[in-house]
Amino acid sequence: MLSISTTPDSLHCLMKNSIIVLIACLCVHGQPTQGPLNEYLNVRRSDFPDDFLFGASTSAAQIEGSTKSGGKGPSAWDQFIREFPDKIMDKSNMEVAADSYNRYKATQGGQIGISHVAQYFEPYSNTSLDEEASKRAIDFELGWFMEPLVRGDYPESMRRLVKDRLPVFTAEEKELVKGSFDFIAISYYSSRYAKDIPTTPNAAPVSYMVDSNVNVTVEKDGVLIGPNAGGSYTEKSNDNIPISQTLKDDIRIDFVQKHLYQTQTAIKNGVNVKGYFYYSLIDSFEWGEGYTVRYGLYHVDFKNLTRSPKESAKWSSRRQGDEQGWRNGYEGHGKMKGKAF
Ligand SMILES: *[C@@H]1O[C@H](CO)[C@@H](O)[C@H](O)[C@H]1NC(C)=O
Ligand SMILES: *[C@@H]1O[C@H](CO)[C@@H](O)[C@H](O)[C@H]1NC(C)=O
Ligand SMILES: *[C@@H]1O[C@H](CO)[C@@H](O)[C@H](O)[C@H]1NC(C)=O
Repeated sequence: MLSISTTPDSLHCLMKNSIIVLIACLCVHGQPTQGPLNEYLNVRRSDFPDDFLFGASTSAAQIEGSTKSGGKGPSAWDQFIREFPDKIMDKSNMEVAADSYNRYKATQGGQIGISHVAQYFEPYSNTSLDEEASKRAIDFELGWFMEPLVRGDYPESMRRLVKDRLPVFTAEEKELVKGSFDFIAISYYSSRYAKDIPTTPNAAPVSYMVDSNVNVTVEKDGVLIGPNAGGSYTEKSNDNIPISQTLKDDIRIDFVQKHLYQTQTAIKNGVNVKGYFYYSLIDSFEWGEGYTVRYGLYHVDFKNLTRSPKESAKWSSRRQGDEQGWRNGYEGHGKMKGKAF
């Protein structure tokens, strides 16, 4: 059965039923729509509910190091790096990372949620085929996890296309997973175009990559959907660039400001967004890219593990004309992990 609404079922599930926490990362991404005259620049702490959480998040594996301490066993990634050191761009590993295991004593709140990676898929054209393709792409990424949590079953588009390779939930399992969360976190990195791939009769679906019949692209008519990460938003780690220059990350502040503007707009439109966490608090081990890209509000010198705030971390002090400022925002953290400050 095809969805007849203009929004994918998965997004409906998310928006209607869930408390959402956003986790945004500065990488390739679609350009958020801007209000008139760069209205986003005026977004203030006071535009958000008092209990709205601002924070910065981290990923334990990517910052902690001490991979053999405290009874930790090797993770799949420790194993992968050992077996295939050449797959990591700078041939680094996670053994020290940003040394956070030795520095933090994190406290955790009492709510349990799950974080989903979800990018937005813009229809490649305004044909109904591409519009359906964009919904399917969202179903196959976000809906795969979100719809069982809300409806107790996988998205209809997945049932239709994946057929008997998709497991079936028992009635008991459906009830078990339905609603089993306090909040949903959405980790979003980028947007892509989604273009329909016409199905050819008798072409048996064979893998997750082709089941959705969507051609995912980053450009249309030679124009990228958004700025390229390699070029601007995540500064490539380069020892020849003086640290003073690396710390001047106005583009990150601009990115955060645009996202706060859009988040505030979503709240005004009735979406129950409870928090916004920038990813990442500090530069960290970025999987296959090793230590060659830097997402942090704090710069980490991976040679001597010195941490230095980038301009984005000190952004609050530059806010003018807002009594509240971002005092609850980017100041005074650094002690906590994955937690609002
Ligand atoms: C689709 O886009 C084209 C070109 O921009 C436009 O002329 C047409 O009216 C649009 N069709 C619909 C259904 O929106
Ligand atoms: C996906 O789209 C691109 C760009 O339009 C095209 O070159 C490519 O052949 C398409 N791939 C498939 C599998 O349809
Ligand atoms: C860490 O190393 C950088 C150069 O890579 C140097 O500028 C800095 O002073 C060092 N910090 C400490 C605390 O040794």
